[in-house]
Formats: sequence, structure tokens, C-alpha cells
Amino acid sequence: MTGIEQAKFGDFAAPGNLVGVDIDELRPGAVAALPKAGAPPLFIQHDGSMTDAGHFMEWSRERRSLLDELVLRHGGIVLRGFPIDDAEQFNRFANLFPIYAHGYAGGMAPRRHVTGDVLESTYLTQDFKLSLHSEMAYMKNFPPRIAFFCEQASCIGGETIIGSLAELTRRIPPALRERIERHKVRVVRNYAPCGSSRDLKAIEDTNQIGWDEAFETEDPTEAERLCGQLGLEFEWNEDGSLTLFDLVEPFTIHPKTQERVYRSSLHTDITSERQGMAATRERLIAQQKHPSGSFLDTGEKLTREEAECIHRIQDEIEISWQWRDGDLMILDNLQVAHGRNPYSGPRLVHVALLE
Ligand SMILES: [Fe+2]
Repeated sequence: MTGIEQAKFGDFAAPGNLVGVDIDELRPGAVAALPKAGAPPLFIQHDGSMTDAGHFMEWSRERRSLLDELVLRHGGIVLRGFPIDDAEQFNRFANLFPIYAHGYAGGMAPRRHVTGDVLESTYLTQDFKLSLHSEMAYMKNFPPRIAFFCEQASCIGGETIIGSLAELTRRIPPALRERIERHKVRVVRNYAPCGSSRDLKAIEDTNQIGWDEAFETEDPTEAERLCGQLGLEFEWNEDGSLTLFDLVEPFTIHPKTQERVYRSSLHTDITSERQGMAATRERLIAQQKHPSGSFLDTGEKLTREEAECIHRIQDEIEISWQWRDGDLMILDNLQVAHGRNPYSGPRLVHVALLE
């Protein structure tokens, strides 16, 4: 984690290398007067005058294009201290923006619908640190933006962490970058048989998720249709599990900034092992006909050293701060990666995928 000094923006402390802006400066059409882009995110604090959720929705609706511009300019924004309390209100807020059409179909994280277009962040065990990642980096189709709402911040850990994908990309050693960019990434993922994860409250590994949960249907034909929409090859296995195959570019050009960034799961097969949590994964993978993993299209994996190198860069660029109840964050999914610190105790964070 980078050392972050605290700097004051009005009456709340934002990490020192972040840019803060007061709510009064945010008038529709005021983009030109706002701070130039710094390291993400831009903190937008509430001045205390707004107490009604309906008022906040109206305020946000009037500034939709401004918020769009700020997310693009800064890579991400955090709205703090606004009157928003629960998943229903977050759903209304998220629906001010276009919702990502494919939803979370075929997604890898264990998460369930909360309400409307709002999903729980994940029910992956709280001991696990979710490393920085671009959402759905293991698929060729992915949401351009992702929004988070912290209904209840964890007392110990659990911060949603972020990091600049441009910075990550710049720090990849040239030799490794050249090796990766000559290839596509073959991603193999396995879902457990229908119903496997239905009653689980927490899981240790994504290979435990049932395919019915990943596609929100118990109809295999519907799951196949969704795979087709997402460009995923699939294979049903004798035990009722489902294997998905995707071919993904390791680098992606941002359609608006033209920045080319590393957006890939290529280095992630060692993530569990790095955290001393590989036992469950190894046991599950040993049973799979097509073991889960991310491979170069030659069939090779990154070497241990290469994968470690990318993990180390992620550790170096990671930014975190103390979250508060009611914090809202919108990230440009091709500019800013996100993750989650381990935590203990209650934590309630919701997610919406946006165009
Ligand atoms: Fe994520």
C-alpha cells in the first residue's frame, strides 16, 4: 500500500494524493472550473444542506452529464455524506445511469441480487483479500463502469481499495509486457453443478459457485443462450458442472481516452496461494476435466515470477481509505481497478454495473 498523508477538504479527510471538491462547486455545466485530474478518485463531499434522498436523486439527475465527465476525467468519484441509506435508494441512483446490459451473467465472484440492478459486492470469505482487478477482466465483454454503495462500513478492514490501471500498465517491465501482448489470454472457468452454492453464506473459492447462481437461472438452455450473448464457449460435464472458455485481449484500449491498459486475469492463478488459501482451490481444480485458469494462447501460463511481478505492482499502486456508511463510488472500469481488504464483523457493500 502506498503511504498516504491525510489532507483536509472542508470538514472531512481525504487521502493526500486525491483531489477533493466541495458540493457548492458542482453546478451543472461547471466541469471547466473543476480541478484537473489527479490520482483517482475525486472526492465530492456534501455540505450538510441536503437531508432528503429525493432531493439527492434530483441533484444527481441534474448533474448526470457532469458526473459522467468527472468519472471519465478522474477515473472515479466518491460521493460522501449524501442522504442515501439503503439498496433501494442506491438502485434508484444507479438507474440514473445506463445499466450495463449483460448484468453479471457469467460473472466469477459469488454475489447475488439485492434489489433491482443492485448486487451484493461478494460473499467470498471475509478472510480473503480481493486483489485489484478491473471488473470481469476474465471476459471479453465487461461493464465500462462500476458503482459501489457502502450501506454499512466494516469496523475492521473491508475497505474497497482502488488503483490506477494506467499506472499498473506503465510499471509492467517491458520484457514482460512484450511477452504478454503478443498473445491472447485463454480463460477457463468452472461452475459447480446447479444448486451447489444456493444455501452457502460464504465461500472460499470461486470454483464452488453453482452455474445456476452465475446465470441466475436453473434452465441450462437459458444459461447457454446467455453464454452465446457473451461470446463464451461452454461445455457441460458429466457431473453437471459447466466449463466456460473465453479468449480475451490482455490489453484494452479505452474507447474515450485511447489509453491502452492491462486488463487481464492472466496473473491471478497464484492469488489464493499468495494468501495461504490455496487448499480448497487445488482440491477443486484437481477434479475438473478442464482445470480453471488463465493461459496464454500458446497454452503456457505466466511463470511464478511474472505473475508475482504483476501482483507486486498491484500492491505498490493500491490506495485505500477509511470508508463510511453512505459512501458512493463510481469507477471507470478501464481506468481504475478495485478490490477489497479482508475484514471482520458486519459489512454491507452493494454494487451496480453501468454502461
Ligand atoms: Fe470486482
